[in-house]
Amino acid sequence: MKTAKVNIALLFLFSVTENMQHTAAIPSKTTNSKNSSIAIIGAGVAGLAAASRLIELGFTDVTIFEAQDRIGGRVFPVPFESGYLQMGAEYINGRNNPIYKIAQSLNILDKEENDAMDSYDPLKDATFYSGNCALAQSSIDKFLKFIAPLEKKFTKRATEGDEADKAESIGHLYGEEYKKFAAEHAKLPKDKDVYDAMSHFYQAYYYEAEWAADWNDLSLINFAQDNCSDPVDPVQIMNKQGYKAVLDHISANIPSSSIKLNSRVASIDYSGSGVRINLTSGPQKKQFQKVIVTVSLGHLKKFAKTMFYPSLPQAKQKAIDKLGFGAIGKLFLVYKKPWWDPEMTSLVTVAVENCANSTAADKLFHTFELIPWNKNVLLGWLSGPGPAAIDAMSDNKVSTTVTSLFRRMLKNGTIPAPTKIFRNQWTTNPLFGGTYSYISVAAAKTGLSLNDQLAAPIVVDGVARVLFAGEATHEDVYATVIGAYSSGRREAERLAKN
Ligand SMILES: Cc1cc2nc3c(=O)[nH]c(=O)nc-3n(C[C@H](O)[C@H](O)[C@H](O)COP(=O)(O)OP(=O)(O)OC[C@H]3O[C@@H](n4cnc5c(N)ncnc54)[C@H](O)[C@@H]3O)c2cc1C
Ligand SMILES: *[C@@H]1O[C@H](CO)[C@@H](O)[C@H](O)[C@H]1NC(C)=O
Ligand SMILES: *[C@@H]1O[C@H](CO)[C@@H](O)[C@H](O)[C@H]1NC(C)=O
Ligand SMILES: *[C@@H]1O[C@H](CO)[C@@H](O)[C@H](O)[C@H]1NC(C)=O
Ligand SMILES: *[C@@H]1O[C@H](CO)[C@@H](O)[C@H](O)[C@H]1NC(C)=O
Ligand SMILES: *[C@@H]1O[C@H](CO)[C@@H](O)[C@H](O)[C@H]1NC(C)=O
Repeated sequence: MKTAKVNIALLFLFSVTENMQHTAAIPSKTTNSKNSSIAIIGAGVAGLAAASRLIELGFTDVTIFEAQDRIGGRVFPVPFESGYLQMGAEYINGRNNPIYKIAQSLNILDKEENDAMDSYDPLKDATFYSGNCALAQSSIDKFLKFIAPLEKKFTKRATEGDEADKAESIGHLYGEEYKKFAAEHAKLPKDKDVYDAMSHFYQAYYYEAEWAADWNDLSLINFAQDNCSDPVDPVQIMNKQGYKAVLDHISANIPSSSIKLNSRVASIDYSGSGVRINLTSGPQKKQFQKVIVTVSLGHLKKFAKTMFYPSLPQAKQKAIDKLGFGAIGKLFLVYKKPWWDPEMTSLVTVAVENCANSTAADKLFHTFELIPWNKNVLLGWLSGPGPAAIDAMSDNKVSTTVTSLFRRMLKNGTIPAPTKIFRNQWTTNPLFGGTYSYISVAAAKTGLSLNDQLAAPIVVDGVARVLFAGEATHEDVYATVIGAYSSGRREAERLAKN
């Protein structure tokens, strides 16, 4: 990765020079004073962290433009009974990071859950259901034994392999392993159907619900770069306040008058002596000296070509096009009382092909988990084609689809429908266009760190005028709140320096 970084720096310098040819050159050496007018686009964790850090550094003229009517972006805690259901981020990846430190200082970590997680095996107390299809315990055991070493094997290959290896997709690598397994253990078509269905669950839960990526586009390099995962404590769980408390903490020093809600930015003009911003509702009279853009990679993929004047440097546009941005989905299903076995930790629906009474929609679902602080809620995880398919459905349709699934999979026609469904349709919202970024096969094939390329500021007259923060601009911990937070502070500090 070190060599790749050098390549990017050179490439970027080149493209900036190129870009400056059509940029008016007015020297503005005095832009570094603490009363410089700074605009921040987006009040997600990156935008809030940038504003908060700028204010800490003494900046007095900071304005955040946020398209939605709330702050938080992909951190979206919705009040429910005694706590918050997290429509977006919920967990902390590991302990060696600033978000864990904040959670620790706020005393919102769930000690009991995290102790239990020390020996966490998501499948240990999982119950598998497959309706009218016989899913023998011996088949489940055989399959779990087969998959047990795979993730470690991929991670090892990711750190030791050569460049070409790193651009292999996880789906392809799994396919090779599975072919060998199936040749030995799935001689009858009905056995093959069962193992195919278990493979589908493995794909959906272990990879696609984790990385928000189709595993045929999820490059091996993700397993080498993602150093946020703490091998001892990979996931930290917070109490029922969770990210609500983190959000309050991060935004505590930002005056509410600095945050303009319901203000969607249509275009950013950095061609003159500063930055001019047009909202969808009309141009802003105030001119800014610098801007920090924190909108999601999904939003940039849709709008970057029309959002910036002059156009973004080629290297940055290429990074936007090539990096991956996919989706996961979370469905909070509320019931009057639990109808599931209260001892289980997760309920897995295994959609076996050629099974009586199965439907095409069954494959959209796989894992339903309990939440620690409310016994009446099931959290359903969506991945692969699931999020887009479910986002396109009405709540009513989701309710009947999931209830029909449970009734057939558990062979119990009296399982009730949920009384309420909480979800956020991330894929259909143009402000997000999905949930978070990953390194695609095409991105890995470039051999460059496209996250760094996305992070590089646009420098005009020797001054960083358009800066970029957000989850996808973090080279190591993209896809997380940690990455968003660190990137926001990083850009505030960069801005203060030059
Ligand atoms: C369902 C889900 C589950 C997740 N789970 C976890 C988890 O458990 N742990 C974890 O660490 N991370 C998780 N993540 C990822 C994490 O939430 C994100 O990486 C992080 O919150 C991104 O922050 P950000 O500031 O970079 O972007 P955002 O939160 O997207 O902030 C950008 C802001 O810009 C606004 N905006 C967009 N376009 C415009 C425009 N044109 N004008 C003005 N404003 C605009 C948006 O409304 C948004 O508020 C999850 C994400 C999702 C969606
Ligand atoms: C910013 O502060 C400097 C002195 O610290 C002052 O000369 C300048 O006029 C101020 N600029 C604005 C836009 O207020
Ligand atoms: C990831 O690795 C880099 C380089 O070794 C290190 O500087 C960084 O702190 C690590 N990040 C985390 C979250 O551990
Ligand atoms: C911003 O809006 C003004 C007024 O409608 C328009 O003249 C200008 O071209 C817009 N800027 C950009 C970069 O689209
Ligand atoms: C079917 O579900 C209902 C509702 O939860 C429950 O009362 C009943 O015991 C279940 N029947 C069987 C056979 O599990
Ligand atoms: C399966 O479908 C048949 C025909 O539609 C129906 O009679 C039967 O009750 C169904 N069984 C289950 C478990 O849903």
